[in-house]
Amino acid sequence: MKILAPTEDAIAEAAALLAAGRLVAMPTETVYGLAGDATNPAAIAAIYAAKARPHFNPLIAHVQGLAAASVEADLPPLAIELAEAFWPGPLTIVAPRKADAKVAELACAGLSTIALRAPAHPIAQALLHAFAKPIAAPSANRSGRVSPTTAAHVAEELGDAVDLILDGGPCAIGLESTIVGFADEAPVLLRAGAIARADIEHLIGPLAAPKQGVHAPGMLASHYAPRARLRLNADAPEADEIYLGFGPRDGARNLSPQGDLREAAANLYAFLRALDATGAARIAVAPIPNHGLGEAINDRLMRAAAPRT
Ligand code: TXA
Ligand code: MG
Repeated sequence: MKILAPTEDAIAEAAALLAAGRLVAMPTETVYGLAGDATNPAAIAAIYAAKARPHFNPLIAHVQGLAAASVEADLPPLAIELAEAFWPGPLTIVAPRKADAKVAELACAGLSTIALRAPAHPIAQALLHAFAKPIAAPSANRSGRVSPTTAAHVAEELGDAVDLILDGGPCAIGLESTIVGFADEAPVLLRAGAIARADIEHLIGPLAAPKQGVHAPGMLASHYAPRARLRLNADAPEADEIYLGFGPRDGARNLSPQGDLREAAANLYAFLRALDATGAARIAVAPIPNHGLGEAINDRLMRAAAPRT
């Protein structure tokens, strides 16, 4: 495994590795992705193996934009409206997969739907342009663990399971894309994420909740988890706890002293990693308001705090 600055040569090398069925890590505006050729079942299998990911958990195919997405899925008008508003950007659309889609069925874990996202990060876009095919890219962490927001996190998570890491510095948003499903009558919020629910509902109306029992986004109860146990909505730490603060509730780290949810999202995963690295048995987390990006932050914290399997 090597880490390279994202020069033109490095991007060409990454595209050549993808074409050879190998895996590379790429920065996106949300989190780092573990990228493989989405049309190559062997590359998809290598992604599942590198992440130790359950095979029923499908991957997001990354594309340059709406034209490439339309090759893979039947996008209903509301999905196209969302894509036009938020692509390239931190929005993933789940829609019925076309029979002649190029993305391998294995990437969709046997579902009749496909998840598509056009990332905004210039390095991800440059790689998509150089490779000229869809790129499957789950977050570049081992399954169930905290997502990586720096190249060093990726190296820590995956080591030699990845051939090359393109170093784009820290991810600007730090929280995964919002996933909206268009496979049912009404659009469904499958995963809260970097685009706030209100910004989507403003355009296309209310989002339904996912049906029970569907395997969707980070739906495994325990996910995004550090080694330490988490206690949420804690006003103050107990004796054996290290405290992750927010706003006026200060701690070993503070997600955002000003109470800014964007700043908190960008810091969340790196701070969980840093507090975990202190060896503390438990991390207590200050209350985070549930509006805007707070919905996604609280979703991740709840999964990180859930009983482990
Ligand atoms: O921001 C992001 O979305 C990042 C960056 C790298 O793009 N990617 C990411 O991928 O978070 P991943 O694999 O960690 O999460 C993708 C989620 C999974 O929880 C999966 O269950 C869901 O998307 N998903 C994929 N295909 C689906 C489908 N057809 N129906 C429902 N959910 C799907
Ligand atoms: Mg993930």
